[in-house]
Amino acid sequence: MAVERIVMDPAKSDDHIPEEFEIKLRPHDFTNYIGQDRLKKNLKLAIAAAKKRGEPLDHILLYGPPGLGKTTMASVIANEMGAQVRITSGPAIERAGDLASLLTSLQDGDILFIDEIHRLHRTVEEVLYSAMEDFKLDIMLGKGPSAKSLRLDVPKFTLIGATTRTGALAAPLRDRFGHIHRLEFYKTDEIAKIMQRTAGILDIKIDQKGSDLLARRARLTPRIANRILKRVRDYADVNGDGIIDTAISHKALDLLEIDELGLDPVDRMLLDAIIENHKGGPVGVETLAALTSEERGTIEDFIEPYLLQIGLLERTPRGRKVTPKAYRHLNKNLPKDNDNQTKLI
Ligand code: ADE
Repeated sequence: MAVERIVMDPAKSDDHIPEEFEIKLRPHDFTNYIGQDRLKKNLKLAIAAAKKRGEPLDHILLYGPPGLGKTTMASVIANEMGAQVRITSGPAIERAGDLASLLTSLQDGDILFIDEIHRLHRTVEEVLYSAMEDFKLDIMLGKGPSAKSLRLDVPKFTLIGATTRTGALAAPLRDRFGHIHRLEFYKTDEIAKIMQRTAGILDIKIDQKGSDLLARRARLTPRIANRILKRVRDYADVNGDGIIDTAISHKALDLLEIDELGLDPVDRMLLDAIIENHKGGPVGVETLAALTSEERGTIEDFIEPYLLQIGLLERTPRGRKVTPKAYRHLNKNLPKDNDNQTKLI
């Protein structure tokens, strides 16, 4: 049976095209962007300084788990700078020529947003270095002995790169960013505010208790919060009077198999596999991929960060280990010889 995943949408996960409703929900400025206060403070300062000097912003690298608002933040930055933004992704730029046409279509001060920048092709990445550093493009025309190199000026743009993994980024690329910021998981009350805001825009009726309950199940992630909200609205429209309250929320969450901590069946399967097959770990991520039939990248990008964040999973040099909190959550007895037992989380 096909299981719908709220955590990630496999159909959308590889092309990085935001869902249409996500675009509609995007806040346009810092005032309407809820959460990420430290990041906003730093960016406001950088923007004010760049404006005062009449210069483009330094290049910015945003990293962190998917769904926390990296693309949204890039469009907010563009708006706050009064600049245009071009949005693309690493794998979409196949050749150096694609990058050249993107860059030459920009104007001074414009922003180029590259999502999944760790997946840029090596040849493209090398051309990007000189564009970032001195706004020049070195392009090779032709092949073999008659090949010529051409140096083109490009507008003074700002690159905003986004990645779920800074570790996967080549050091020369990382070093060319003036600002490197991590997006943090949101607080539950911020997620509740985001849900209320989304409900207002989409004309969804939800009471305070409903949004508080759903917010606790949304993995501290706005994208997941908004998806849950839409699924629960469907449930309320079909099985109720369209109003999302606590009772409707509980029933819809049961149907979606999302538990009190926001875990779905795949999360529970992963934790269960570590406990049952590996005595709680440590176990390597490749083994986990085999046990759960999920790809390694899916585990690393979509599943694990939240489990680490809420303290159900630990990363050790020898692999992943579940915590006593995970045993308790899954109603399992801690094994007697497990050193987890002495460490209360
Ligand atoms: N929608 C998605 N993320 C948001 C955020 N951080 N603030 C407001 N609305 C959002």
